Amino acid sequence: MRETVIPAPLQVVDVVKTYRQGESIVNALRGVSLTVQSGEFIAIMGASGSGKSTLLHAIAGLTEIDGGRVLIAGQDLAELSDVPLTRFRQRHLGLVFQSFNLIPSLTAEDNIRLPASGGVGLDQQVEGLLERLGIAARRSHKPGALSGGEQQRIAIARALICNPDILLADEPTGSLDSVTGQQICQLLRELCDEQQRTIVIVTHEPHVAMWADRVVVLKDGLNQAEFRTDGLHDPQAVATNYQDSLQALEVS
Ligand SMILES: Nc1ncnc2c1ncn2[C@@H]1O[C@H](COP(=O)(O)OP(=O)(O)OP(=O)(O)O)[C@@H](O)[C@H]1O
Ligand SMILES: [Mg+2]
Repeated sequence: MRETVIPAPLQVVDVVKTYRQGESIVNALRGVSLTVQSGEFIAIMGASGSGKSTLLHAIAGLTEIDGGRVLIAGQDLAELSDVPLTRFRQRHLGLVFQSFNLIPSLTAEDNIRLPASGGVGLDQQVEGLLERLGIAARRSHKPGALSGGEQQRIAIARALICNPDILLADEPTGSLDSVTGQQICQLLRELCDEQQRTIVIVTHEPHVAMWADRVVVLKDGLNQAEFRTDGLHDPQAVATNYQDSLQALEVS
């Protein structure tokens, strides 16, 4: 009997992305490879401009890559045309952008409901997320009347409403106070541990990265360093490991 091999939820293979604007060329990703398993939580750290957001956009199939492959549950995104890609993304991925991307004319609650197509249990799920993320009292407000941190939590709820296999989040706690930030991290950790979701977040904060299993360090569009964080739960250790990784990359 042949063994069935289940592909990893996320495989990034030698991805290259080059931005061209007139004469200027930016090599944003220069060959990034990464495999993330089911139930694994990884944090991507790196200086501003190191390619973190570009990598997240490439994983989400939101930017065309110039080389390499992105496979979600074994499916190469490049093999899907626009409409199937959008459907595939809706089925598998939850996205939290650095700039939230909420619809200004919709209330907080309607923004959260937007990606969901209805169905049994949706109301309960919306309620659960509103409560869990501490935004129930703001449900009828439009994004313009919400603080940055509230908008961020709406964006997180919207990304989770379809129960994605993979959550991609660009600095999901960047606008939050430290207590709320830690609550969000705890929620993400539980999604991995209890529901075997796969989570990839970008962060500058060791307090956030310490919740991950693994930190991938991006420098100048390459990920040549990473370290494990499991069980450490120690922001200082994460900060030291991160600085050590950067220094090692500097001399190599
Ligand atoms: N649309 C674009 N056109 C041209 N260059 C771009 C574009 N988007 C990003 N870049 C460049 O690509 C590089 C990587 O950008 P990216 O946004 O991925 O960095 P980042 O690591 O997310 O930074 P930050 O921490 O500031 O968010 C940068 O040099 C940036 O200026
Ligand atoms: Mg960015």
